[in-house]
Amino acid sequence: MATPAKTPPPAPPADDPALVAAFEARIAAGESIEPKDWMPARYRKQLTRMMAQHAHSEIVGMLPEGNWITRAPTLRRKMSLIAKVQDEAGHGLYIYCGTETLGVERDELVEQLHDGRAKYSSIFNYPTLSWADMGVIGWFVDGAAIVNQTVLAKASYGPYARAMVRICKEENFHKRQGYEICATLAKGTPAQRAMLQDAIDRFWWPSLMMFGPSDKDSPNSAELLRWRVKRKTNDELRQRFVNLTVPQAQAIGVTLPDPDLRFNEETKNWEFGEIDWAEFREVISGNGPCNRERLAARNAAHAEGAWVREAALAHAAKRHRTTEAA
Ligand SMILES: [Fe+2]
Ligand SMILES: [Fe+2]
Repeated sequence: MATPAKTPPPAPPADDPALVAAFEARIAAGESIEPKDWMPARYRKQLTRMMAQHAHSEIVGMLPEGNWITRAPTLRRKMSLIAKVQDEAGHGLYIYCGTETLGVERDELVEQLHDGRAKYSSIFNYPTLSWADMGVIGWFVDGAAIVNQTVLAKASYGPYARAMVRICKEENFHKRQGYEICATLAKGTPAQRAMLQDAIDRFWWPSLMMFGPSDKDSPNSAELLRWRVKRKTNDELRQRFVNLTVPQAQAIGVTLPDPDLRFNEETKNWEFGEIDWAEFREVISGNGPCNRERLAARNAAHAEGAWVREAALAHAAKRHRTTEAA
């Protein structure tokens, strides 16, 4: 079926400086901005970009872990993993709904993901090679998500902030189930310990990259901070994650793969080595180990679900006709 060519939306009118000043005063006073409130076109655009990327990340993030559901070692592990992956679907749908309150259609967002225009978290372009990866992803990736999202729960846009409060509760469960897998493997056989250490070695640096480019290379940060869409910089959040994670690694006797990791008594921070930003740029520009595989899987799932969408629309139309006739 041919889709009609889309006409580009008209350019938004320039923002009235008086309205911008009133908006910024509300933000400074800690007020929450709601969908029907006036907001600068740029605020709307930045939020749409950020929330859509977040929603896409939740959905694509189901793929690396979904891959291990059939191979979970026990029924309990399988139940937890299914519940976690299902939660991620819920997070994605929840944030897509939030994004729609900014006036963008979900179809449009999904199309941008499927044709490669939209970005999602770089971490999901790495493969999951062993069962230990399920533990390490829960511990590191959901752990990093909590650090990020706890701060986003205080973001200035009401629907996004409220979504984060609920999502963070579930992320805590995700992190615990992951850390529990790691703690169990750490007490296991030499082969289990080696499998765990290998997963940690592969996921540590990509997890640090999840917080995005360093502040000096993050062009959107200043504006997002001023409008309180973000409340902390990428580097501040990354440092917090490292500070929280190092003692957790020590507690289960595993090594984080960074010879430069050391505690600074003055700042009370765990200092860490240089991140490989060239690798980060490659992965976000579509050339990571699994970018193509992930997009192909999403596109295939969407195509295979076409009959469900058609049936749902036909059912809704039929109900509408029945209600009209009554
Ligand atoms: Fe999530
Ligand atoms: Fe999660």
